Amino acid sequence: MTIIDGKKVSAEVKAKVAEETAGLKKQGITPGLAVILVGDDPASRVYVNNKKKACELVGFKSEEYALPASASQEELLALVEELNNRSDINGILCQLPLPEGLDDSAVIEAISPLKDVDAFHKQNVGRIMIGDYDFLPCTPAGIMEMLHYYDISVDGKKCVVIGRSNIVGKPMAMLLLHENGTVTICHSHTKNLSEITSDADILVAAIGVPKFVKADMVKKGAVVIDVGMDRDEEGKLCGDVDFDDVKDKCSYITPVPGGVGPMTIATLMKNTLKACKLQNNL
Ligand code: GUN
Repeated sequence: MTIIDGKKVSAEVKAKVAEETAGLKKQGITPGLAVILVGDDPASRVYVNNKKKACELVGFKSEEYALPASASQEELLALVEELNNRSDINGILCQLPLPEGLDDSAVIEAISPLKDVDAFHKQNVGRIMIGDYDFLPCTPAGIMEMLHYYDISVDGKKCVVIGRSNIVGKPMAMLLLHENGTVTICHSHTKNLSEITSDADILVAAIGVPKFVKADMVKKGAVVIDVGMDRDEEGKLCGDVDFDDVKDKCSYITPVPGGVGPMTIATLMKNTLKACKLQNNL
């Protein structure tokens, strides 16, 4: 069994981004990312801090816009519009979910598709469907990058994704399909879930339920990818997979923390660099 080291792969990706960024800076171009955080969800605060730290590390300019949970939809949309019009800001990210009363999808659609480094805008989602895209969503693309790094082929494999969110489950399934996996998406209405997951060569858990995946749901020798960022009964960070229960049954597994999370951020850096290059016709 191999524990996939997301931190290590992420560091290598970020080092490449940093190198390219240094080259751009010599031409007088600095990639810029604007991160919008509304409200005071502690998990979102941690994610946003990590994104800002990564920007610093690779040499990007980053700007944080922290709005109170009481912010109005109009305020938020006005901010997005202002950032859309700034040439020194290449990527705009609004941390989701937004507090109650604010409309996630209206904000996503307001972000210019050229600056949509999350790849959540319907124009970018559509382009991913047909395989003609500039940006891939950060978490699924980060997972693919880890699979590539460890020479894990998807071609012809049975891939099962648990979870059907727009952020992870659905695009994850699409990226696995692009690499010729045979993909099944499971969700809360799925019947005989264990039967389906037990058949998976590659199992991706993205449901948000702590330690949901147990050994009896996993095929011997499977590759297990844990997208969860949950808290167990003691308040300790854990994933959607019961790591200790599952680890001896699989060939590869991602830990939480130190697996998927760092890769999400590394992909965000890649996307922001790409947005900057595209906007500068490079
Ligand atoms: N919330 C959970 N994951 C993500 C992500 O990748 N991007 C944004 N903007 N919000 C998220």
